[in-house]
Amino acid sequence: PIRVAVTGAAGQIGYSLLFRIASGEMLGPDQPVIIQGLELPMALGALEGVAMELTDCGFPLLHGIETSSNPDEAFGDADVVMLVGSKPRGPGMLRSDLIRENGPIFIGQGKSIDANAAADAKIIVVGNPCNTNCLIAAAQAKRIPKANWTAMTRLDHNRAIGQLAQKAGVGAGDIDGVTIWGNHSPTMVPDIDRATIGGKPVADTLDAAWLADEFDGTVRTRGKAIINARGKSSAASAANAALDHIHDWFLGTGDSPYVSMAVPSKGDYGIPEGLIFSFPCRITAPWQYEIVTGLDLSDSVRDKMQGTIDELVGERESVSDLL
Ligand code: NAD
Ligand code: LMR
Repeated sequence: PIRVAVTGAAGQIGYSLLFRIASGEMLGPDQPVIIQGLELPMALGALEGVAMELTDCGFPLLHGIETSSNPDEAFGDADVVMLVGSKPRGPGMLRSDLIRENGPIFIGQGKSIDANAAADAKIIVVGNPCNTNCLIAAAQAKRIPKANWTAMTRLDHNRAIGQLAQKAGVGAGDIDGVTIWGNHSPTMVPDIDRATIGGKPVADTLDAAWLADEFDGTVRTRGKAIINARGKSSAASAANAALDHIHDWFLGTGDSPYVSMAVPSKGDYGIPEGLIFSFPCRITAPWQYEIVTGLDLSDSVRDKMQGTIDELVGERESVSDLL
């Protein structure tokens, strides 16, 4: 079995995520899994209840569910690590407001993962602000390769697809070639210059003014809109995106040429090296991604890109004591 460690496993996202991992939706219909859930001591009872429910589902692929409040135990031999556990923002907050509270979690967990998880463990950070939390966790790594530390912008990618599909009156499967660049924050750059609807360029089907204003703004601020509507941050869609991120990293992107993943920059497109930045990524083999390079970016995308670079550089400076 593949061992999957999930932190914050009794939280909102965890409650949606765990059942779908156990059912085989993340790692495929032939892949047994063992789930290793980590929670704060005060939420361990709730996590034990979730474990009971998982058992009660009788999932054939679920070969074990372990619960712990000790990171060294929860990350032990883990092949996949999903870092969800952290505080979500509430109404009126920015994700970056969470940095001083959530950032320190990722020091201890980064060290524990490096010491206890499988040597080639694959990590996704979901807890916000996810790019910079990933930077903090990855900075602790001496053994696990830096490229294995990733953060989630797949929700933004899926949101962009959802908006285009809804506007065009087609299914999400008809949309391809979307990219999210940068930070999981309102400075992100949704790029649809190469996106298609039913194989045709998006600009041939949808109104340019709607694309430039409404589409762009909706995708960049969707998290806030959901908090305003629900009173709580997105959960099932976030779990779905985390599942998609790991699924595609392992099993490939099917007919899509690439997906958006926040990964350590190697300097491509002038992005400062080491920032955890969302790029278009191609999956070349199970658990192997490469940043798609050489794309010709429009002036408008390049202009917006600077804002998200500046923000991530500023976040990195603000946590320099944690790196
Ligand atoms: P939640 O409050 O419902 O659940 C979080 C869980 O984490 C709680 O059960 C809590 O006990 C646990 N936890 C807190 N600190 C922990 C620690 N140090 N170790 C282990 N567990 C810990 O929150 P949620 O709605 O599930 O959201 C979790 C995080 O995911 C938030 O930071 C949220 O902002 C973020 N998020 C990110 C995205 C994204 O696209 N990247 C999308 C949605 C939510
Ligand atoms: C989201 O995009 O839904 C999450 O990052 C939650 C949030 O705070 O917006």
